[in-house]
Amino acid sequence: MAERAVLAYSGGLDTSVAVKWIKEKYGYDIVTFTVDIGNVANLDAIRQKALDVGAVDAVVADAKEQFINDYVFPSLKADAIYEGEYSLATAIGRPLIAQLLVKVARETGAVAVAHGCTGKGNDQVRLDVGIGTLGPDLRIIAPAREWGMTREELIRYADENCIPVPVTKKSPYSIDENLWGRSIETGVLEDPWTEPPADVYAWTCDPSDAPDAPEYIEVEFEKGIPVKLNGVAMGGVQIIEHLHSIAGQHGVGRVDHIENRLVGIKSREIYEAPAATVLLKAHSALQNLVLTKDQLRFKQLVASQYADLIYNGLWFGGLRRNLAAYVDDTQEYVTGSARLKLHKGNCSVVGRKSPYSLYDLSLATYDKGDAFDQADSPGFIRLWGLPVRLQARQQRGAIGAD
Ligand code: ARG
Repeated sequence: MAERAVLAYSGGLDTSVAVKWIKEKYGYDIVTFTVDIGNVANLDAIRQKALDVGAVDAVVADAKEQFINDYVFPSLKADAIYEGEYSLATAIGRPLIAQLLVKVARETGAVAVAHGCTGKGNDQVRLDVGIGTLGPDLRIIAPAREWGMTREELIRYADENCIPVPVTKKSPYSIDENLWGRSIETGVLEDPWTEPPADVYAWTCDPSDAPDAPEYIEVEFEKGIPVKLNGVAMGGVQIIEHLHSIAGQHGVGRVDHIENRLVGIKSREIYEAPAATVLLKAHSALQNLVLTKDQLRFKQLVASQYADLIYNGLWFGGLRRNLAAYVDDTQEYVTGSARLKLHKGNCSVVGRKSPYSLYDLSLATYDKGDAFDQADSPGFIRLWGLPVRLQARQQRGAIGAD
């Protein structure tokens, strides 16, 4: 019996060709693995297709809950957003896929793992690093990085090997989707001056076509995790699915980002992330109410580190674990609600409340009941400004006053 390789299988042309190509080039029998993290319409159909194109076995799994609980929510608690724009949907999915590929390899006695990433993107890094960390003995094969076939050659190879080529015209874009968001690149988008055409978007309506009336929603969190939507308790997957359609209808969550890839190039990426946009905003609004200024300042530093390491494929590393422990500790009092207004592509926070709120009306108010003693201020200001006054006396030039 030939040795086996587990192939991450989407059911598309590239990975279908890979089933044959790997067998031919490396001699491995192929076990395909397809996982649903909010991106697969029909697992059974994909399973059947894998067997039809020559896989010896086809494993499928629904990992939506695991994706949300173990990957998305830790990132939400961390406020992880890459370069201030990208809520990291694709990037957060990769370590889970790597983890499951290694698991299936173990269960099926495979000696190699294969995936369909090209040699230009971040995803190859995330998968290779993840697989190499969790299954260092497994050989990694990336056919699309190795075979050097053009699209036409790929189709010819498919024809020669009785691999069905989809009759529908291939989308002009390269698209990746999961519950946390949709990533779209290539085609006309490669010109950063060109406005994304309407057909790029599938989850969000054009903000100018969105309803004229705003919609208000309320998200309740417990220790940094969303637990209720508009007063109704729901699981994480359900909350995200609901928000996906509510916010999508209002055109919320479109992002046009020139991003810095790990492999050194800048790329233009369009994202649709209606649920992620709402939850990240809601979470940070509530957090602003319960953490001190110092905690918030420090957490922002951690957020950008956290986002970088997710983007850069270092999920399975000590630093991620360290930062996650810190982030979890900060979420102890992030319990309460945020109210948001969705309108014509905008998602604005209009209210927040928490039993642990540090907002004290009697200190903040300018009206009756003011408990802030303004007589404390002059003394405080004298000490606060002492170092610069001293400096001004001794080093006129240093303070830029001359
Ligand atoms: N640029 C994003 C990232 O590196 C998304 C890449 C997803 N791939 C795609 N075919 N659009 O995470």
